[in-house]
Amino acid sequence: MEILNHDIIILGSGLAGMTSAIHASRKSGNRLEIAIISKLHAMRSHSVAAEGGISGVLYPEYNKDSFDLHAYDTIKGSDYLADQDAVEILVENAPKEIIFYDHLGVPWNREEGGRVAQRPFGGMSIPRTAFAADKTGFFMMRSLYDEILSMNNIHIYHEHFTTSLLSKSGKFIGVVAIDLSTGNARLFRGKACIIATGGASRAYKFTTTSHASTGDGTALAYRSGFNLKDMEFVQFHPTALVPSGILITEAARGEGGYLYNSEGKRFMERYAKSKMELAPRDIISKAIITEIKEGRGLLHEESKLRYINLDMRHLDPKKIDERLPMIKDITIKMLGIDPAKDPIPVRPAAHFTMGGIDTDKKGRMSMGNGNESVGFWAVGEAGCVSVHGANRLGSNSLSQCSVWGRIVGEDVADYALKENSLSDGGVVREAEIEEARIAKMLDSNGKNNPYEIKEELTSTMDELVYVYRTTDGLRSALKKISELKNSFADIHLDDKGKIFNTNLRDVLELENILDIAHVITEAALNRTESRGAHSMVEFPKRDDKNWLKHTILSKGDTSDNITYLPVTITRWQPEERKY
Ligand code: FUM
Repeated sequence: MEILNHDIIILGSGLAGMTSAIHASRKSGNRLEIAIISKLHAMRSHSVAAEGGISGVLYPEYNKDSFDLHAYDTIKGSDYLADQDAVEILVENAPKEIIFYDHLGVPWNREEGGRVAQRPFGGMSIPRTAFAADKTGFFMMRSLYDEILSMNNIHIYHEHFTTSLLSKSGKFIGVVAIDLSTGNARLFRGKACIIATGGASRAYKFTTTSHASTGDGTALAYRSGFNLKDMEFVQFHPTALVPSGILITEAARGEGGYLYNSEGKRFMERYAKSKMELAPRDIISKAIITEIKEGRGLLHEESKLRYINLDMRHLDPKKIDERLPMIKDITIKMLGIDPAKDPIPVRPAAHFTMGGIDTDKKGRMSMGNGNESVGFWAVGEAGCVSVHGANRLGSNSLSQCSVWGRIVGEDVADYALKENSLSDGGVVREAEIEEARIAKMLDSNGKNNPYEIKEELTSTMDELVYVYRTTDGLRSALKKISELKNSFADIHLDDKGKIFNTNLRDVLELENILDIAHVITEAALNRTESRGAHSMVEFPKRDDKNWLKHTILSKGDTSDNITYLPVTITRWQPEERKY
């Protein structure tokens, strides 16, 4: 097997992965050899799809914004589950990162006079979301990618699917990845690993995310015995286009769009009188589903999906062209709808994984059962530090990726500079065992069709682990997932080829979303309260007495272990959440 040696191995080439690579490199004086391993071409990572913007306090004297206000909005938005010390790090560092991207060349929209423009976003007290039209993620990714291309010590391995993490006595030694262009396994040896593989919303069928968002690093971490945190908290974005699920950015409401039910009423008045369409996402998604359940939704005949209308007809068409050009493009291409003339059909879709791999404030991962691990970090949507708690505010994710991209990159660089050599012991043998496992998978001739398993899995998640959840529904989902896992053990792969075998890639992704769906559902069933994006019909209230704590879940020998971590409260005591 081919062996490649680097100091730092980064899994994932989205915003968090590329940012941490740049900062690790800079911290080391560009001395460390860094590999970015991505199952896609890096510029197809899901971060390119981020639309609305990045939050940060840029002009406190001009608009009376402050770190305290951004922190308060974020903590209240999180339904008090965010760790407040982490939130303070987020808000204090976000402005610096927006300026960092400015220097890399991101074409921010600007006010007359040159100030970076900031638009309103849900749950924020003040317009603090900087943006580049409605293609913010694309421009940020493009500038990072260009920067990396200019650096000799960062090597991107496009279209390599990582299938296992290798460690010895808890210490990272390498990963095995399949080069999709040849089908060959390659062993990447390294001193440190950063997991930056993004979220896992493809455990659902109706989702705003790209097909690649299958939580690969999170599933690998779970199977390797690392702790996952707060996996029950899945964000459902209120406005996904019906029937495709394509994201219609929150900026559509930030720029003044309204939500109407089938009776032509702006129904948010009933749920969040003061914030209306700019309430946090958990509240709007629940409102939409309530309207639909109570018979005030509309029906999309072909898909049978129920929806409500997002209306921008009252906005100046010039504003749509200048600030939301991609939304106009998408609705015209997908549905023949010009948002200046017609309302857009939308409903909530899985959008963001608030939970993830448990990390400390430096992004270092922790093992289950108190076992020690060394050399593993997680960042971005794959990690849970935790700044979003039970509900993330829109535009805080790009800030989080950027702030912790730097923190993690620099911490990993310090570690890798101190470590003298790559570990040898047993690593090749372990890699060969993994290579044999993949070869066996490719050879599968079982009776079950993996695509049917995926269809059943994602439909089950849409139906039973969605905006509103019930104990019975979650139990049924868990049973179904367990049956599907058994079916997965007896699948067939029809494509036995080696070169760009998308059948094999799909099966590897399915293996991951099966595990992700299982832990989301298990953690959801365990939390007998409603908080943020987790709404249990039988337990409609937040229960701070029993549940102001993080869920920590790890894989055990026969079943998963669930323990808890206290939430860090610094200055903001939990209070009733009204908007
Ligand atoms: O609606 C949006 O533009 C999404 C932004 C986000 O998830 O932060």
